[in-house]
Amino acid sequence: MKIGIIGTGYVGLVHGAVLSSYGFAVTCMDVDAEKIGRLSEGRSPLYEPGLDELLTGGIDAGTLSFTTSAEEAIQSSDVIFIAVGTPSREDGSADLSYVREATRQIGLYANGYKVVVCKSTMPVGTCRSIAGELNRSLEARHASFRIDVASNPEFLRQGKAVSDSLFPLRVVIGTESDEAKRMLQTIYEGHIRRKVPFLYTNPETAEMIKYASNAFLAVKISFVNELALLSEKVGANIEDIAFGMGLDDRISPHFLQAGPGYGGSCFPKDTQALVDVSRKHGEELYIVRAAIAANEKQKARMVAKISGALSPGGMLHGKTIAVWGLSFKPETDDIRNAPSYDIIDGLLAKGAAVNAYCPQGMKQAKRLWTDINGGINYCESEADSARNADAIVIVTEWEQFRACGWERIAASMRGGFLFDLRNMFAEQAGVRRLFDYYAVGSNEPAYTLEETL
Ligand code: UDX
Repeated sequence: MKIGIIGTGYVGLVHGAVLSSYGFAVTCMDVDAEKIGRLSEGRSPLYEPGLDELLTGGIDAGTLSFTTSAEEAIQSSDVIFIAVGTPSREDGSADLSYVREATRQIGLYANGYKVVVCKSTMPVGTCRSIAGELNRSLEARHASFRIDVASNPEFLRQGKAVSDSLFPLRVVIGTESDEAKRMLQTIYEGHIRRKVPFLYTNPETAEMIKYASNAFLAVKISFVNELALLSEKVGANIEDIAFGMGLDDRISPHFLQAGPGYGGSCFPKDTQALVDVSRKHGEELYIVRAAIAANEKQKARMVAKISGALSPGGMLHGKTIAVWGLSFKPETDDIRNAPSYDIIDGLLAKGAAVNAYCPQGMKQAKRLWTDINGGINYCESEADSARNADAIVIVTEWEQFRACGWERIAASMRGGFLFDLRNMFAEQAGVRRLFDYYAVGSNEPAYTLEETL
């Protein structure tokens, strides 16, 4: 069976590389010629652990190829995954223009029976409308074959995309076509053998499972972030609260980590799109809306927390703040909807000078944050950014921050504040006692500088 993938973003590229490692002949198509050129040489446009090895492995084995030609990718494949972007529009709705274009091309170039699989996160109803559009195209061409459609959402997490793809927690297949179901079962035979749960349902349900999962996780994070705020006021500790809640397996300990708010290319976009779809159907999803609002508030709260501690009036003129971690989470260079953007923007608006450092995210930040880049001084390392600074703000929990040479860094600073927005060092007295330490969701007496002097 030959496989075509339209779109080489996170989902398409990782999925294509993983399927080629199973031995399928995979052709990945993208309109971006420069990207395809790089990929053909085995160079990944994104930082994702394990991906480079899969790419070179697939290219060397001859199972993975790249093209800018939709015609070639479509005609050479039995199964075509649509994995193009579905970005947010201004009003929160999903922009489906790339999906529509991919559908148009499949309708135009298909040269025999194909299974089209919706892999990107697409609003409920999209899969069925793609099927309708393809049928109309084939009718207009008087084609003698049909195209079946399935929804098979992807649940991978950035930073763990390869292992999530290789070892998924579940496979969801939404289709009314037995043939499409059979072909997807062949593709995912390895998962069936490993007894990964498979859920067969209709396309609408499959599409909703993806949105519902992301929205639920976003709700969980916003819930814990709101409790973190209350915990600071009442003298409770959110880390212990989350641990205590998580011991109940109806709640589970996952996604209860308080922080500066969720970011990334999925939660912000998918929660907005879900609200938008529900409105189009005359319904209000109050809980999801509240999670979105709480997340926006959380980022603003972080700025207020920092500025309130650093200056009684809240203004930060003359203060230099080192911001560590620009990517929306560790092990990725992706800065889309990263809380760091809002936090830096807020600090700059209050007059602070910002020194930024991130192990992977700086290249993208320099390229994309054109509106705030004038105020950011990008630094080479943790130590570089902290020199003569008044405060360090940890926005993303990169592991390497643990071993950055804290004593030396603290000694090189002008001020002594550490705002640990991921609670990385909440339990580490050794680091805490070097600073005026602020965590999220607990008000326990910090090891203040006075105490240690
Ligand atoms: C998410 C889903 O997890 C994945 O299943 C889906 O396919 C795509 O969206 P991803 O965006 O890669 O994946 O990252 P994830 O690890 O889920 O984190 C999203 C955001 O939530 C990050 O900003 C992260 O820092 C934040 N987060 C996560 C918290 O603030 N607290 C938590 O407890 C967990």
